[in-house]
Amino acid sequence: MACVIIVGTQWGDEGKGKIVDLLTERADAVVRYQGGNNAGHTVMFGQDTFVLHLLPSGILRKTISILGNGVVVDLAELIKEINELEQMDIAVANYLHISDRAQLVMPWHKTFDRLREEQKGRNKIGTTGRGIGPAYEDKVGRSGIRVGDLLETEQFKNRLAEIVAEKNKLLASYFKADEPPFSAADIFSEFEAYLNILRPYIRDTPLLVNQLIEDDKNILFEGAQGTFLDVDHGTYPFVTSSNTLAGGACAGAGIGPTRITCVLGIVKAYTTRVGSGPFPTELLDNDGELLQSEGHEFGATTGRPRRCGWFDALLVRQAVRLNGITSISLMKLDVLDKFKTLKIAVAYRLSNGEVTEDLPRSLENVTPIYEEMSGWNCKTAGTTSYKQLPTKMLAYLERITELVGAPVAIISTGPKREETIVLNPDQFWF
Ligand code: IMP
Repeated sequence: MACVIIVGTQWGDEGKGKIVDLLTERADAVVRYQGGNNAGHTVMFGQDTFVLHLLPSGILRKTISILGNGVVVDLAELIKEINELEQMDIAVANYLHISDRAQLVMPWHKTFDRLREEQKGRNKIGTTGRGIGPAYEDKVGRSGIRVGDLLETEQFKNRLAEIVAEKNKLLASYFKADEPPFSAADIFSEFEAYLNILRPYIRDTPLLVNQLIEDDKNILFEGAQGTFLDVDHGTYPFVTSSNTLAGGACAGAGIGPTRITCVLGIVKAYTTRVGSGPFPTELLDNDGELLQSEGHEFGATTGRPRRCGWFDALLVRQAVRLNGITSISLMKLDVLDKFKTLKIAVAYRLSNGEVTEDLPRSLENVTPIYEEMSGWNCKTAGTTSYKQLPTKMLAYLERITELVGAPVAIISTGPKREETIVLNPDQFWF
């Protein structure tokens, strides 16, 4: 039995989807434990590219796929994703399980996400606009609706009427929005139709996951977003609204921390960020543009260009600590193929002149102190043998390992499944 958690160590988009897909080959189940369809996990095999927003990436390998209780689910989007995969001959019905305790993303969550961003103007978070923040607010505020609540028709109808009345007041008096009010009757019919499609998938997923553990199965927990979008440990308030850290897998899937056997941190060989918020190593010059074009750095969910910058060792070292990362998977090294010189942030100078190697509470107004390394400046994209990697790339890799405090387990040299070097395949599964 093994329970492996996969987490992003930066601001998301590190390439988790590819690695989850790869490790699913030997997994019995894959579980999503937080976030919602704000995520965009890109997986490529053969000539096909799949971008999954809600379904665990394991579904592409026809593996038991679980949407845990910590996820917020937009049922319309989920059904769309299921239909798309079924058209590609992936019989989702045989593999998917949705937690009866997962919270629903309701129509007002999407509206309020948009209106709040409009209100904030230049201070906006730059959310994906999928209603994720408002859905988690209602969960914690105890006015959310859970997937399982749909099964109790009369109770759902009454609760919906109460909540809609409150949301309409907010819409009219707080947001003063020029939009039609929400209709409880229409929403009830809409969600009844969703329930008719999804009823067979709904179940007690913490029970299922724990039974799989008792049966000695290999389970993969697929994190979404990244460590510095975590609501507690990220660059608050420019974060998402869930605990993206490995610790989030326990509450979000319903397992105890003693069951976790390893945590694999996914690390991009440079840094990217979508949306607003501080980004100390951001490059607003030709180097940044080269990273963006070589790395195809455009958001998988919103299509927005990703901000790009040098590798920040302070971030990833902190991520290793916060997640208890046991090894890392280094992604997109080939994107650096054209660079003659590479830089790594090894410390920050704070606004008071102090120098720190530990991540400060605020990343605003810090100046990165860089170490320069010479680039390998040759084509490595698609390399599948460690021995064929240029010495200068190995030196970069070794320096990163040293700085972040975790060994490299996987090296990715391209988006395809086969463009990967797995250094020790037996370390994850027992
Ligand atoms: P929200 O999760 O839509 O509320 O967005 C909050 C912040 O997290 C914004 O900066 C988004 O761009 C960012 N974000 C959310 N999901 C992802 C993701 O999957 N990858 C990268 N950034 C994300």
